[in-house]
Amino acid sequence: MRPEDLRSHQWYGTDGLRSFSHRARTRQLGYLPEEHLGKPVIAVLNTWSDINPCHVHLRDRAQAVKRGVWQAGGFPLEFPVATLSETFQKPTPMLYRNLLAMEAEELLRSYPVDGAVLMGGCDKSTPALLMGAASADLPAVFVPAGPMLPGHWRGEVLGSGTDMWKYWDDKRAGLIGDCEMAELESGLARSPGHCMTMGTASTLTAAAEALGVTMPGASSVPAVDSGHDRMAAASGMRIVELVRQGLRPSDILTREAYEDAVTTVLGLGGSTNAVIHLIAMAGRSGVPLTLDDFDRIARTVPVLANLRPGGRYLMEDFHFAGGLPGFLSRITDLLHLDRPTVAHASLREQLTGALVHDDDVIRPRDRPLAAEGGVAVLRGNLCPDGAVIKHIAAEPHLLKHTGPAVVFDDYRTMQRTIDDPALGITADHVLVLRNSGPKGGPGMPEYGMLPIPGHLLKQGVRDMVRISDARMSGTSYGACVLHVAPESYVGGPLALVRTGDLVTLDVEARTLHLDVPEEELRRRRAAWTPPPARYGRGYGALYNEHITQADTGCDFGFLARAGEVPDPYAG
Ligand code: FES
Ligand code: MG
Repeated sequence: MRPEDLRSHQWYGTDGLRSFSHRARTRQLGYLPEEHLGKPVIAVLNTWSDINPCHVHLRDRAQAVKRGVWQAGGFPLEFPVATLSETFQKPTPMLYRNLLAMEAEELLRSYPVDGAVLMGGCDKSTPALLMGAASADLPAVFVPAGPMLPGHWRGEVLGSGTDMWKYWDDKRAGLIGDCEMAELESGLARSPGHCMTMGTASTLTAAAEALGVTMPGASSVPAVDSGHDRMAAASGMRIVELVRQGLRPSDILTREAYEDAVTTVLGLGGSTNAVIHLIAMAGRSGVPLTLDDFDRIARTVPVLANLRPGGRYLMEDFHFAGGLPGFLSRITDLLHLDRPTVAHASLREQLTGALVHDDDVIRPRDRPLAAEGGVAVLRGNLCPDGAVIKHIAAEPHLLKHTGPAVVFDDYRTMQRTIDDPALGITADHVLVLRNSGPKGGPGMPEYGMLPIPGHLLKQGVRDMVRISDARMSGTSYGACVLHVAPESYVGGPLALVRTGDLVTLDVEARTLHLDVPEEELRRRRAAWTPPPARYGRGYGALYNEHITQADTGCDFGFLARAGEVPDPYAG
């Protein structure tokens, strides 16, 4: 590739006043002409922040990326971008996924950038950065933040998230007290890095690796392992080559790649959030991916990764058992092996020599954790546009269940009243939460694992059928029907359920049915009034106007649709 073929040449290399000014301003930054002129400019989009424990190490790690870029003959420039901290951002970072996606896309477009390294990993960061990169369609490599080290407490190995829920229930049941909780506070999450269970973060970074936009094996390298520095440097080196080759996201993020990402997520027993994010990401690549693709592929993929919350181990174990290359080597017959990745001409080449070193962590095909992928897509009069359930994380006796609904109109009401014995909730009841969807939540907060009422917890009840238009944390578990579409806030049938109505869940038949005659539902629909708009102005108002429903990925309509965007320098 000649220097004048670089996109950044339009900024730096021409004879005009603008180019002079850009060169003068780069001198102002302290660079010599020979340090950068004619070299691929690599934007390092970094989601580091003091408030984000999952990304706090990325401030340093960017240095390793830059080192790799310099060594390969590129010119790295770091761009701080929005941080989406699953723990701290309210009401939920899902409200801001599309904001980061927009920011990433527009920064790549509007600056002199030839290629990008994307640094993130806490839940929504991965889809957001990849959605932006897919839309900008400049060569890009994703650097996953890496899982934190395993938690420890009194001889037990703890999973962040998963064990938080478990011990919180133990506390509510009176089994442990404040002393134990104080110790747990220091033991649950003991190093920088994203959640180290197969929660949403690990699921989405694994999906990114399966899509072919990371270095091989990158997604499971522990955040604080020296191997993470080496992976970051290798990513920096690689992106410069990608620019020279002209290999873009649109060459990599094909229908085959997205199908393989779905296969991967299901075979890992990954988070239900991946359903929404992969549909949204595919949308940016112009690939139609639907809920039915997930259900269809789920029936062909065994769950082989023995990872919490569904299984036993944590991401560090997975890494040393062979990581994603090892895992993928066990399902090559289910993958499209002839597609390119950022690192290799084909996935087949990338997986050559991949090994599994621990058959209990990554199971052989004849000893799966579950014969089918973990997610089922439900339909029925309660969810005409679909709903999902991670049935492998539920108590089996609930997978076919009929019970009377107990309806909560919103999360706060539910929190206030769920432990009230006067509600008379039994283990057979079906807990229904509404107004927690994309618009109603807003942002589909992870409310979907509704708490078991305290008196039932004390009786030893640990799972019940729960239904909502919310999402659920990837580290959660239980018979939770999620992502009900359309959501109640826009008048979906969930808005019409009343306490006492019988609801039937049948996972085998893939149905969710509200046992109320159609005529009565029509009456209730006629009497329903839409809730008042929540946001009078600002980003929330923009969000509310453009967010799509869960079954189509919760992107903004104007970002998801096809259409031309002029190059800023063409005009
Ligand atoms: Fe960041 Fe779990 S809180 S990945
Ligand atoms: Mg999470």
